[in-house]
Amino acid sequence: MGLAEDVAQGLTSKTKYILSRYFYDARGDQLFQEIMKMPEYYLTNCEYEIFSTKGADILKAFSNESKPFDLVEFGAGDGTKTRILLKRLLENQANFRYIPIDISGDVLENLKADLSKEIPELEVRPENAEYFNALEKIRSESDRPKLILFIGSSIGNFREEVIKKFLDELFEKMNTGDQILIGYDLMKDPNVILRAYNDSSGITRAFNLNVLKRINRELHADFNLEAFEHYPFYDPESGNAKSYLVSLKRQTVFLKSLELKVDFEVGEVIHTEISRKFKVADIERYFSNSGFQTVEHFYDCKHYFVDTLAKKP
Ligand code: AVI
Repeated sequence: MGLAEDVAQGLTSKTKYILSRYFYDARGDQLFQEIMKMPEYYLTNCEYEIFSTKGADILKAFSNESKPFDLVEFGAGDGTKTRILLKRLLENQANFRYIPIDISGDVLENLKADLSKEIPELEVRPENAEYFNALEKIRSESDRPKLILFIGSSIGNFREEVIKKFLDELFEKMNTGDQILIGYDLMKDPNVILRAYNDSSGITRAFNLNVLKRINRELHADFNLEAFEHYPFYDPESGNAKSYLVSLKRQTVFLKSLELKVDFEVGEVIHTEISRKFKVADIERYFSNSGFQTVEHFYDCKHYFVDTLAKKP
């Protein structure tokens, strides 16, 4: 389904929602880059530290032979964190091609241009497609072993049943011996987590509200951004950080392209995002339920974040 169908379904549900994938228009991408630089958004620094200090160990755990392999990245974005890992792998004589996959062709072109300046010796082969379609194509073209990256705790934006479906499909599309490195944000002091989604500079607020701007533009809607407030919430029991947009008054919004009127009560919410925080035992359970073998966990020094390597045995 596309934006129109998804928004129609989400805004007519009992609890209204907008899927978080719609955050990422050009402005949303920019705001997310800013989020990653904020001091409160510890996730980026933690994963940067892991790649920077443990890059060689990750390579060793993946393979101790010097055979050529493909390093495939799901949702490459601008590759800020990946860059340090790429450098560490090259410093340790790894023999690989880097295959970033993204649905945005622009993102991939920029990434390729940046990398050719910064790491000219690296072979980069972007794939502009959906993750699993790209993976099938790569698999049909070469039988090199693969190390797949899915970093940044993007898996935390999936609902529980979607995580299962994702890992099952991944398992099916990988060859025996292929491995995956997934970044997971871990449960920790709830105040630290809440601050990451409720920064004092208001960038996350702007990121959340931007989805309404996008809907106004693309679906000719009349959301009044002043009449909705960003409300993040963290439940330490489930590990779910959720973001909402709360209606500050009784109002009706009209979405012209959908011929749809949506009524809001005062205080009524639109759920816009889930950012799950994990326990290590849950990570291992997810992997083994889908047939994977956990190889090793790589933590930052505070144990806020983990990149876990798992193998299709
Ligand atoms: C992309 N994703 C892992 C981010 C997260 O932490 O859930 C998106 C984000 N939302 C608000 N801040 C950052």
